[in-house]
Amino acid sequence: MTTYTEKKLFTPGPLCVPVEVKGAMGVDLGSRDHQFISCVAQVRAGLLKVAQVSAPEYTCVPLQGSGTYCVEAVVNTASPRDNTAKVLVLVNGAYGRRIVQMCEKATIPVTVLEGPEHLPMSLLEVEAALQKKDDSDGVGGGWSMVCIVHCETSSGVINPICEVGQLVRRYCPGASYMVDAMSSFGAVEVDMVACGIDFLVSSANKCLEGVPGFAYAICRTSRLLSCKGNCRVLSLDLVEQHVGLEVNGQFRFTPPTHALLAFNVALTRFWHQGGVQGRAHRYKQNNEILVSGMEGLGYRRLVQPPHASYIITAFHFPKHEAFSFTKLYNGLAERGLVIYPGKVTSAECFRIGNIGDLHTHDINTLLQAVKEVMVQMGLPVPLNS
Ligand SMILES: Cc1ncc(COP(=O)(O)O)c(C=O)c1O
Repeated sequence: MTTYTEKKLFTPGPLCVPVEVKGAMGVDLGSRDHQFISCVAQVRAGLLKVAQVSAPEYTCVPLQGSGTYCVEAVVNTASPRDNTAKVLVLVNGAYGRRIVQMCEKATIPVTVLEGPEHLPMSLLEVEAALQKKDDSDGVGGGWSMVCIVHCETSSGVINPICEVGQLVRRYCPGASYMVDAMSSFGAVEVDMVACGIDFLVSSANKCLEGVPGFAYAICRTSRLLSCKGNCRVLSLDLVEQHVGLEVNGQFRFTPPTHALLAFNVALTRFWHQGGVQGRAHRYKQNNEILVSGMEGLGYRRLVQPPHASYIITAFHFPKHEAFSFTKLYNGLAERGLVIYPGKVTSAECFRIGNIGDLHTHDINTLLQAVKEVMVQMGLPVPLNS
């Protein structure tokens, strides 16, 4: 039998999962088993509680697959099939651009408002785009949906989702507002009601520290139900998924049973550790140690406070001929530590995440290893500025 060596994952995902969460997967249950159905109900109710909303005004719709599947499900479900569909995507990174791709694939008319990757979206520019009443210049107005990413995991920038939501409600009350909160939900406070969010999407293996296998949309129920009949894709129809779950508590197609059992334990652990505030506290602590340690070694971050999240940090490649990201990556990987390449187009960067089951000692281990690999590469420690 092949054995695998566990790694510490300082990445945007997959992320390290606590041992008791993985342990919960050791039970086989059928999709119609009453124990499993009750687990699904607990997970759905638990996620509403994390979002600080309640049924029946809001509903949590879990969906098989990774986070992208659920964002794509919202895009396809919330966009009418007639000529009223018109999506505005606020883009300042790769995950915003992915939403644009989803619209293009589904041939849903889409307009992009793009901002620099190291800054949050400009509220003045967003307001101007939302104020457009007609399509006379061919680029604006009449939005059926507005989409934004909360923590742009490609750079680590945090977007002002609440201020944007209030603008959407003021200027486009009929539009759906979707927030991709993949890498922030559960660790950054969000008031869905005050922020006017109709659809908030995240996935099991992010800040709630479950195993990968499903994602979920927390939806304003009336908005979701108004989308009946829109979806062009059978398996991504969130209205049908919601109706199925409400009618008999079951997923429509084979559910990721083990991942849901694990997630229920992850939720219990989440509350024991202080809920959103507890998670924010640990991740902030991890991030502070990471950033001050890396800056001490001479690295510069791409996103500056107050725009930087405490979720993931992008560091510029040092301007030194001996630096090689491949050597840094491999040197760390040999020590069981995994970091990630950059995902911004404007600068050469690498990324270090500090979410998942990571603690201050893990961050200190990583910093020590970065130093060792720098010496191996022949870099000065610290780097010359
Ligand atoms: C903000 C954001 N959106 C979407 C995704 C895509 O999620 P997945 O890779 O689970 O499909 C990610 C993944 O890290 C993300 O961080």
